[in-house]
Amino acid sequence: MCGIVGYTGSLNATPILIEGLETLAYRGYDSAGIAVWDGEDILMRKQKGQLKNLRDILEKDPISGYCGIGHTRWATHGEPSYINSHPHGDTKKQLVLVHNGIIENYVKLKAMLREKGCEFVSDTDTEVVAQLLGDVYHGEPIEAITEAMRLIEGSFALAILFRDDPYRIYCVCKDSPMVVGFGKDGAHIASDIPAMLAYTRDVTFMGDKQIAVLSPEGIAFFDEFGTPIDKGSTHIDWDLDAAKKGSYEHFMMKEICEEPVAFRKTAEQYVNFRSLKLKADCFPWAEEDASAVKRIRILGCGTAYHAGLLGKKYFSELAKIPTEADIASEFRYSGYVFEEGEVLMVVSQSGETADTIAAMRMAKKAGVRTVAICNVIGSTIAREADDVLFTYAGPEIAVAATKSYLTQAAVFLLAALRLGEVRGTVEEGRVRGMIEELALLPDRMQSLIDKREKIQYFASREFSAKHVFFIGRGIDSALAYEAALKLKEVSYIHSEAYAAGELKHGTIALIEKGTLVIGLVTQPALAAKTESNIEEVRVRGAKVLALTNGEMPEVDSHCAAVWRFERTGELLAPFCAIIPLQLFAYYMAVQKGCSVDKPRNLAKSVTVE
Ligand code: AGP
Repeated sequence: MCGIVGYTGSLNATPILIEGLETLAYRGYDSAGIAVWDGEDILMRKQKGQLKNLRDILEKDPISGYCGIGHTRWATHGEPSYINSHPHGDTKKQLVLVHNGIIENYVKLKAMLREKGCEFVSDTDTEVVAQLLGDVYHGEPIEAITEAMRLIEGSFALAILFRDDPYRIYCVCKDSPMVVGFGKDGAHIASDIPAMLAYTRDVTFMGDKQIAVLSPEGIAFFDEFGTPIDKGSTHIDWDLDAAKKGSYEHFMMKEICEEPVAFRKTAEQYVNFRSLKLKADCFPWAEEDASAVKRIRILGCGTAYHAGLLGKKYFSELAKIPTEADIASEFRYSGYVFEEGEVLMVVSQSGETADTIAAMRMAKKAGVRTVAICNVIGSTIAREADDVLFTYAGPEIAVAATKSYLTQAAVFLLAALRLGEVRGTVEEGRVRGMIEELALLPDRMQSLIDKREKIQYFASREFSAKHVFFIGRGIDSALAYEAALKLKEVSYIHSEAYAAGELKHGTIALIEKGTLVIGLVTQPALAAKTESNIEEVRVRGAKVLALTNGEMPEVDSHCAAVWRFERTGELLAPFCAIIPLQLFAYYMAVQKGCSVDKPRNLAKSVTVE
């Protein structure tokens, strides 16, 4: 997704803008640019490709000044190119702006503006916004912005420089994230917190259609009608290194290695490991209203959805409550009618995924209680859900979600355990026993991370695979979906997750000599069944890697490799099993020379539909 930065204050804006864009690069982009007021005019520099290309241009043709905006573009309308890269301006050269989002009625607006004499130079929807603002601007920036907002349909986060109002940056957003902050050197705006952490830890999250005016003296806020409003700030206590790679070659490996700590930090928020009790007041189901919860629906996208698949198993098993998990982009158009007593849980690392936000807003409009599981304080989902259960994974920079999945699953497990405790479907002894087992998990995860060389070795032999199948039953099939996505998105190898019992109903036709099949066998009650499915594919030529926490004498000798880990309770198996699966995806990608942290076509946070 696009990244926006802006600064106005006592320092040269250019290096601050470039540094901010570097920090946001993990969001994925294909061009970049900046605009700076140099004391006499707004100067722009932009270029297709990586930020290095922009830095090279600035080396040859520098610009400097105390106020500027910057942008990394993830193309939606108009191919990645110099002319389509941001910033964009209006024909009358009154302003320049950068934009993150999608303007859904840009074609209609473009035709209207063309009739008024606007000359367009790009194929972007963003230029339409610049031209529209230029058309309604008569010397009053806030009036022009409120008028333009009435005409625009779609999502936008805008940072705008008006030529006749230098040293101020005007910002507004709707359905696209934006955060502002004021530090000792001036005011900052960014799409995400890490871009300004070096300058201020006190940030304000913009609400939909609210306007922020940044000046070297401070930040003023207005509502969509131009009326001044007050907004508080949130102190961010992330350490700066958390958003840096450190000694790791890739953020993805760093974040896998952080999983034991991320798990522990998250669990400790909800569990007292000394008394072996859940912290009741951290959960949204208090004794009195838990009985009102009749069913749970979980929504998310990608990895977050896959964590929701585990959540579905946990609520069904522990709280004995009907639970469904759906993909948010499908659900939001499904016409689903919520039932009496249904609770919607939305899960999102970034808290800014457009489809998940839309589904949550749909539920809220229907009067349904919404509970979020989210990793970013102040994000849209965290702010708008009725209740929030935060994960404490710290900033996740690699596009591939790893520690966020693990901590989301942990919160689902603990929330289900608490609901079961309140509903009386889980007796105290089981709660204590599960908490005791949870306390052992970080060390077990660490020992799996410490033994990662054998996974690297296996990947060094298998990275030329064209197709990989992940098969399992029950919780293992939920795990298989996440394992397949990880491998696909970082190594570009086609991989599919399949319920092991379903193979015989068609897909086994794809198995041929040498097809790589990863068999997940962590559920004792289903192990024998999955082992026979492994045999079925093996005798048809598949090369099988088994991942298990049990003994499989009949299968062991037939597998190309068996990765074993210490047995836990079946509900806790994913917390160990996912680590070798993430490492496998990582090493396959490294072996193939892929862009591990920023895979092609992908963005870290999908803030557009
Ligand atoms: C997973 O590795 C991907 N980064 C992607 O599927 C991601 O999980 C999905 O876009 C949801 O993002 P969110 O958790 O920020 O809502």
